[in-house]
Amino acid sequence: MRIESPREFERLGALRIYGLQKVYELDAGPETPENSGNADVVRAIPTEALHRIENEMAIVVPVRNERLKLIEGVLVGIPHPCLVIVVTNSPREPIDKFYLEQEAISNFARFTQKKIMVVHQKDPHVAAAFAEAGYLDILGPDELVRNGKAEGMIMGSLLAKMMGRKYVGFVDSDNYFPGAVNEYVKEYAAGFHINDSDFSMVRISWHSKPKVVENSLYFAKWGRSSRQTNQVLNRLVGHHTGFETEIVKTGNAGEHALSVDLAMSIDYATGYAVETFHYVHMLEKFGGLLEHGDDTDDMHRLVKISQIESRNPHLHEVKGDEHVDDMIAASLSTVYHSRLCPESLRQEIEEELARRDYLKEGEQLAPMRIYKSLDRMNFDVFADRAAPAAILEARTGVTVSQA
Ligand code: GDD
Repeated sequence: MRIESPREFERLGALRIYGLQKVYELDAGPETPENSGNADVVRAIPTEALHRIENEMAIVVPVRNERLKLIEGVLVGIPHPCLVIVVTNSPREPIDKFYLEQEAISNFARFTQKKIMVVHQKDPHVAAAFAEAGYLDILGPDELVRNGKAEGMIMGSLLAKMMGRKYVGFVDSDNYFPGAVNEYVKEYAAGFHINDSDFSMVRISWHSKPKVVENSLYFAKWGRSSRQTNQVLNRLVGHHTGFETEIVKTGNAGEHALSVDLAMSIDYATGYAVETFHYVHMLEKFGGLLEHGDDTDDMHRLVKISQIESRNPHLHEVKGDEHVDDMIAASLSTVYHSRLCPESLRQEIEEELARRDYLKEGEQLAPMRIYKSLDRMNFDVFADRAAPAAILEARTGVTVSQA
């Protein structure tokens, strides 16, 4: 891959947020001596280097009731060396969608010799593993893992660690283009190659999202949710640096990846607030802006966020306007309720949500549920209880299909 080196970054304490990097070539060819120049404006990353990182990566595919053809297309796009972890929350009644998913995915794994794990979000063995490991907040009143994409991502990250992977990436299961999925994963690998650190995150900004407008294709750059979220996050960063900024372009990046060490050490917001909260929480934890008492460990590491602009258009299932409003409110709520949020920005958020008719007179923006970092749980107990071997034997639906 040939990719622009980041030209600018914002530094807050131990956190660096790099500006958007453009991709110039999806495949820059094999390893050659001139490929190694760190100081180049555009860097070539050899295919072998990407493969080496893919070998250490798990890709988590969250699923809830998606069409099998779409899920299969996503699996087709994930490079072979990656371990795939499908975390599904599809219904089992009246039709057992999970059974159908397992069957289709097992077939796919047989044909491709690919390593794929399929786990149901409501598997009682996984819930018991969380309970025994002391991570109870993720369990609902029925003592199973709660609904939500973030909850599935948390499960996936733990499985990636159990399977010994160094990086974990996420791709939604409702993507129409396998080529786009393939590109996202290669960009995750490129980001980790450039920012080789134990605490690193790569976020994708879609180049475009095609829509039909007046009978023609229109390639929109920003969705409503990302436009709003990025603006508010940039206002937050600018408030603390004292300089207006446009550095954040990926406030809602569903497509992102991070080192497993980082995934274990950050808090998570529920549902669709998860991606925006990454920024808010990392600013709180690593930004050096809040008092952390004697606990200064977090300030001694360098935490890097890269943002990469993909080239393929992003086309996924359209799920309606109400969903977008919910996503905006959930995202903005994580900023609104942060100790870092200045009063002026709170007011702006309230005004924006009132304008969208999301907040009525006198109503308050509800805080999102926050899950504390995974490093507080007893990982060994979790791994023991949810070990793939045990999962294989369990008849409750969790399977590991291995080539
Ligand atoms: N495991 C699991 N559990 N997966 C879920 C759940 C759940 O409860 N709910 C949704 N998913 C899966 C969906 O099947 C899909 O693959 C993915 O999570 C994203 O959910 P969508 O409902 O399709 O979200 P979206 O497409 O509107 O939004 C996506 O893009 C946004 C950026 O524009 C998401 O990735 C957002 O998180 C992201 O901010």
